Amino acid sequence: MREKDTLYASPLAEIADFKFDQAVASVFADMINRSVPGYGLVVDQIGVLARHYALPDSRLYDLGCSLGAATLSMRHRVETAGCEIIAIDNAPAMIDRCQEYLDKDSASLPVQTLCQDIRDVSISNASVVVMNYTLQFIAPLEREALMRTIYDGLLPGGVLILAEKVMESSSTQEALFQSLHTDFKRAQGYSDIEISQKRSSLENVLVSESLPTHQQRLQTAGFSQSAVWFHCYNFAALLAIK
Ligand SMILES: C[S@@+](CC[C@H](N)C(=O)[O-])C[C@H]1O[C@@H](n2cnc3c(N)ncnc32)[C@H](O)[C@@H]1O
Repeated sequence: MREKDTLYASPLAEIADFKFDQAVASVFADMINRSVPGYGLVVDQIGVLARHYALPDSRLYDLGCSLGAATLSMRHRVETAGCEIIAIDNAPAMIDRCQEYLDKDSASLPVQTLCQDIRDVSISNASVVVMNYTLQFIAPLEREALMRTIYDGLLPGGVLILAEKVMESSSTQEALFQSLHTDFKRAQGYSDIEISQKRSSLENVLVSESLPTHQQRLQTAGFSQSAVWFHCYNFAALLAIK
């Protein structure tokens, strides 16, 4: 059974910026499932998409893999010969646990885990690159360079699967979706104090952008098309094709 997230349940004297440390890693599966609407569906469909787009003898990257949910989804679905998954995260607490889960998993697709900053990573011979709620933690000014690195490392016909918290262009719509997201978290058992303290801790760390901003950046990087395949309140996933 997964450990319950109670990190923000008691009033905190000072709310520090959110970090992917040991405390977060130990409750992360519960935290993300109860905080991100449709997380399970998106993870499952990443496996389905990877199976569709994986090319023989190519690499599948999971950038900001955390505990390896998307990696495991791909590992269990992809059957194309000669593929390898590279799962990368710069938080030691996350990548260590990810490796433990992979060691207990019996699927045969090879997975290499790397504790590395995705801004320094080299990507090559890739048919699939996944960024599942990770780009939002990269400074906006550094996002274009990363998109270009991904585009350059993809084979023709390769894809980037990008899921993000997104901002609505209209302030009325944004307020509505924020309020519906708060209702979602309450329905998942989070109290108002937990919701408010977690929001404060993420404020300077998670920078969301609008879907048109993401799509424009993908086009600038060279992607021929990008389609929204999931959207629930302020959470969305795109499929960008080289
Ligand atoms: C919200 S979690 C991603 C969830 C995960 N992809 C999944 O499917 O469950 C964001 C992850 O990105 C990682 N991360 C943030 N910035 C990073 C960077 N510059 N390099 C590598 N990993 C990074 C964090 O350590 C964290 O594990």
